[in-house]
Amino acid sequence: MSKRIYNFNAGPAALPLPVLEEIQAEFLDFKGSGMSITEVSHRSKWFDDVINDAIARSRRLLNLSDDYQVLFIQGGASMQFAMIPMNFLPDGQTADYVDTGTWSTKAIAEARIQEKAIQMVASSKDRNYAYIPKQIAFTPGAAYVHITSNNTIKGTQWADYPDTAGVPLIADMSSDFLCRPLDIAPFGMVYAGAQKNIGPAGVCMVIVRKDLLDRVPEGLPSMLKYTTYAAKNSMYNTPPCFAIYTVQLVLKWLEETVGGLEKMAAANREKAKAIYDLMDSSSFYSGTADADSRSMMNVTFRLPNEELEAQFVAQALENGFGGLKGHRSVGGCRASIYNATSLEAVQALVDFMRTFEETSR
Ligand SMILES: Cc1ncc(COP(=O)(O)O)c(C=O)c1O
Repeated sequence: MSKRIYNFNAGPAALPLPVLEEIQAEFLDFKGSGMSITEVSHRSKWFDDVINDAIARSRRLLNLSDDYQVLFIQGGASMQFAMIPMNFLPDGQTADYVDTGTWSTKAIAEARIQEKAIQMVASSKDRNYAYIPKQIAFTPGAAYVHITSNNTIKGTQWADYPDTAGVPLIADMSSDFLCRPLDIAPFGMVYAGAQKNIGPAGVCMVIVRKDLLDRVPEGLPSMLKYTTYAAKNSMYNTPPCFAIYTVQLVLKWLEETVGGLEKMAAANREKAKAIYDLMDSSSFYSGTADADSRSMMNVTFRLPNEELEAQFVAQALENGFGGLKGHRSVGGCRASIYNATSLEAVQALVDFMRTFEETSR
């Protein structure tokens, strides 16, 4: 097999090797069909089994009650930014948004394009989004509260979710979905573009509380209504079959190989701690997020100057570590250490960081 690198990409990102191997092994003949999964009909039993198994596994992993429905929608997390206010924010009501960086800001912009009545109830813009706001005064009776659970670019993550006094929380979990156990009870909806923690690009997983579906206005185009997906098990039209199939295999890996979300969280904590400990003991690497707001998934850091950062990224690549350049909008460096990134990869990175620091001084 060709050499695989240590992949620290922010998304699309590393997938578990056993998942890739399983895809490879059954790619030409899916379950005795004589066809690839990319060739079978989405109306076949083969694909029905795939999507239903993905749904059943996500229900088990998250202990979802019958109050919630699992949907697969194309258009990425970005389309959810538009669909959420379109479907769940009726005229005459308001919704609260918390701005914790680029992706929250984009979600807010999509609601404003529709001239919806939304309020930004908290923002961490004042310190370049280095922290998660605390003690937020939410609007009583709001239609929902929107947050971004993990800020991929700024390297911050909600450690605990805010108490919204019964107003349904809606969270963009694109970059930390299934990284730890989740108590779904306060959530009206969670959604995640697959291409970071649960699969390839092309599908967004949505878990919605069924009573919210009663709010969906009749007049919306079919493909922009959650009810269309809910009524047809996400197969109103041709779904992104290959992406859903890969998600199914990742969920199987999480359940059967990792052993569930408690174990996944323990592994993620250990990985993140290894890099943050190095940063905390070094005056060479400095984290950009406040300690109490640090992300377990995206570790963002700076070196003493931009020249050293460029050297760091280039030398890392030469040594088999990919994806360490920070997002183009903020610069610096970032190690994305999603579920599929192994502790071994992280330890190798920490060793490389130590060596780089020593040789650069
Ligand atoms: C937290 C978060 N939300 C939304 C997006 C946008 O996702 P998509 O490209 O699937 O629209 C990203 C992509 O990086 C993200 O990190």
